Amino acid sequence: MGPPKAFQETPPNHGIFKEMTKMKKIGFLATALAVGVMISGGSAWAAGDAAKGKKVFKKCAICHSVKKGKKKIGPSLFGVAGRKAATVKGFRFSKALKKSGLTWDDASLDKFLEKPRKAVRGTRMAFGGLRSKKDRENLIAYLKTLK
Ligand code: HEC
Repeated sequence: MGPPKAFQETPPNHGIFKEMTKMKKIGFLATALAVGVMISGGSAWAAGDAAKGKKVFKKCAICHSVKKGKKKIGPSLFGVAGRKAATVKGFRFSKALKKSGLTWDDASLDKFLEKPRKAVRGTRMAFGGLRSKKDRENLIAYLKTLK
């Protein structure tokens, strides 16, 4: 007769128990994280994730450079956050954007990027818009890093 059955099973059971404790901890962390996200999501403007925004920017990169002074079809977006609209030197802006009186902050960028031609009637920016608020938040966080 070998050792009692219960004793034989102790090592594997113990391992599983440890695994379960670990999973509970991970579960707790995930819950804490989700609650954190929910709380921050409740504020008027949730700060976006610039790293994710850089990926969203691929949609803009055909027409916009982030290098200072480098124009493509659109003006360079270097330093765009906080700038008065249509003031980049060496780029011919539409009358509509020049007359818009806008300064690019979170709110005006959000509105413009959601539906450019609705936010500024007559703009030459031929881009349909970004429907996802999350994409816009992330993108704007990225735009703010361009300085
Ligand atoms: C098809 C080309 C094109 C695409 C795609 C495009 N833009 Fe533009 N964008 C333009 C042009 C052209 C202008 C100048 C508009 C005007 O003069 O009315 C402009 C203007 C702007 C301005 C105003 C700049 C200033 O100095 O006042 C911002 C901000 C901007 N674009 C951001 C974006 C972002 C962010 C994206 C991606 C979601 C994007 N654009 C996609 C062509 C484009």
